[in-house]
Amino acid sequence: MLKSAVDIEIQKTTSRKLSEVNFEKLTFGETFSDHMLSIKYQEKGWKKPVIEPYGPLSLSPATKFLHYGQGVFEGLKAFRYQNDKVNIFRLDEHYKRMKHSCERMIVPLPEQDIFMETIKALVNLDRNWVPNEKFKSLYIRPLVFATDESLGMRESEAYTYLVITSPVGNYYKEGIKPVKLTTMPQYVRAVRGGAGEAKIPGNYAPTLYPGATAFNDGYTQVLWLDAIEQNYVEEVGTSNIFFVVDGTLVTPKLNGSILSGITRKSIIELANKWGMPVEERPVRIDELFDLAESGKLTEVFGSGTAAVVSPVGVIHHNGRKIEMDQDKMGPVAQKLYDTITGIHHGEIEDEFGWCHVI
Ligand SMILES: Cc1ncc(COP(=O)(O)O)c(C=O)c1O
Repeated sequence: MLKSAVDIEIQKTTSRKLSEVNFEKLTFGETFSDHMLSIKYQEKGWKKPVIEPYGPLSLSPATKFLHYGQGVFEGLKAFRYQNDKVNIFRLDEHYKRMKHSCERMIVPLPEQDIFMETIKALVNLDRNWVPNEKFKSLYIRPLVFATDESLGMRESEAYTYLVITSPVGNYYKEGIKPVKLTTMPQYVRAVRGGAGEAKIPGNYAPTLYPGATAFNDGYTQVLWLDAIEQNYVEEVGTSNIFFVVDGTLVTPKLNGSILSGITRKSIIELANKWGMPVEERPVRIDELFDLAESGKLTEVFGSGTAAVVSPVGVIHHNGRKIEMDQDKMGPVAQKLYDTITGIHHGEIEDEFGWCHVI
């Protein structure tokens, strides 16, 4: 049994739900493990962490987060190794990003060692919920939100930090399906000076309407352009975007309105190690059409915790289309996918220190 260095109150469930779960038919984020973690912030300090049975919260209808969305979340995964050990992938990087998001939202976050040790303790207690099969995983969702009972439009004094976990299946049900993207120049996701690089609810809810419109038009997701000039490619719904141009890996430079993806970072680190040229730079949408026409654009793929890499088959913009003709992943996306999923499951050596094994 893993001994935590942090003092945690643990109340174990008396009604374990594990036997009711069909691991063959897991969807995304609809099944929840037996326990959850919470830490309350009051009077400028964090209280003792508590792990308790997963269940409903009791909240005042005036809870500030419900009205003004002052809160921050993260999304990371734990994977099972062949030897039954469990790997929480890039736990420290997810802390750093959450901290950065919290600063933007004036939201407190427990110290890094508390964050890491309590997540390890929660995952360890529910380690039988980490699926056994390759490509399945335990999704971990930390969330911190404002709990003042007040409708005053100012930052809260009290907060709750929560972590819940959810076993999730293979992202692709029937093999790899290239996604179809469309720009939507009449809508923007995030503007310079806004909070696009923070992982906060307010960046997601406004994208539902354009996302639904794109879906009705036959596209999988929206390809967001910069909000000011509507000229530069930023990212996709829940992933960053990469292009392979003449053997170089190209991805939009982080500019404050793009979420700094941890998978994006891992891909860049791998490409650097392989000696593959990488350019993080502004990418004009028109440039992509020129590159596609000249045959230099050989692969387009999204990157994110959910699917690692997802090939893009179509980009639509103002009536024009780039068709990548990808029924399967291109060679660069495939090599990245195989390497990262191999590291997830301990089949490929982790030379980078990405794995937190418990
Ligand atoms: C808006 C957005 N961009 C990019 C990503 C990819 O980030 P990561 O690789 O850390 O999952 C996500 C997913 O978290 C996202 O929600």
